[in-house]
Amino acid sequence: EPLVITDKEQMRKWSRAMRSQGKSISLVPTMGYLHQGHISLVREALKLTNLTVVSIYVNPGQFAPSEDLSTYPSDFHGDISKLMSVPGGVDVVFHPPNLYDYENDMKRNKNDQGVSQEFRGPVFFRGVATVVTKLFNIVEPDVAVFGKKDYQQWRIVQRMVRDLDFSIRIIGAEILRDNDGLAMSSRNVHLSAEERGKALSISRSLLGVKSAAENGHINCRELRDSVIQAVSEAGGRIDYAEIVDQESLQAVEEINSPVVFCIAAWFGKVRLIDNIEINL
Ligand code: PAJ
Repeated sequence: EPLVITDKEQMRKWSRAMRSQGKSISLVPTMGYLHQGHISLVREALKLTNLTVVSIYVNPGQFAPSEDLSTYPSDFHGDISKLMSVPGGVDVVFHPPNLYDYENDMKRNKNDQGVSQEFRGPVFFRGVATVVTKLFNIVEPDVAVFGKKDYQQWRIVQRMVRDLDFSIRIIGAEILRDNDGLAMSSRNVHLSAEERGKALSISRSLLGVKSAAENGHINCRELRDSVIQAVSEAGGRIDYAEIVDQESLQAVEEINSPVVFCIAAWFGKVRLIDNIEINL
């Protein structure tokens, strides 16, 4: 059974004690309600270091006022038993009650303009960067594992770590999908069976774009339009659909370098994100 630590001083003390014994530590940051996608990150982490810490913390700083902070699912005991079933085992679950001055942070968010049209905007990523930095400073890991499911998040953390000289290796782990192709997400539980069926248009059309690109269709406007049409016809409301450079995340017009097609779309009240890398 993993050791559950809720106090940040105690967390840091544990890490420092382990590191002074020469142990290396991985951190897998999560917001809980764990599924196999999270577990695949844990398995990745287990391969990389002696010890593994999973953090479970629903970060209020990355939800806009209109978003689903209050309905974000949680199941701490279920999370622990899922982590216990991983061969090799997680050493610590870091589960702080809060890492923020809630009041001030939420006030600040309300003064902002919310989430931008294309991709997640600065409010969201300031919230992510803040909490990830706090977790890095508290856990002091050697390695941190992020999922490519949240592609933009992974790249932004990677860039922050590089630009600010954090001494942490950032790993990007592949997207885990259900058998039908839907990218696993804690938010999928809010989809009705019908919505879930329709949401498959996302992964299906992304795969279609990848093979089209591999067959020489490199015009991004046409590729985007085909995805937007397929997802819209299935009843999805597109938030963004962009083909961007894998490193800079800048939109490209033609595919002639490694790109990633990123999409976010609403099905009912659920906002889903997905992406596919295209390496021509
Ligand atoms: P959360 O949504 O709980 O995701 C935690 C980690 O699991 C992220 O790195 C995410 O990319 C990864 N993940 C989720 N679904 C996945 C899937 N189907 N396949 C592979 N990896 C998957 O992302 C967050 O939490 C937060 O923003 C956090 C980084 C914890 C900061 O608050």
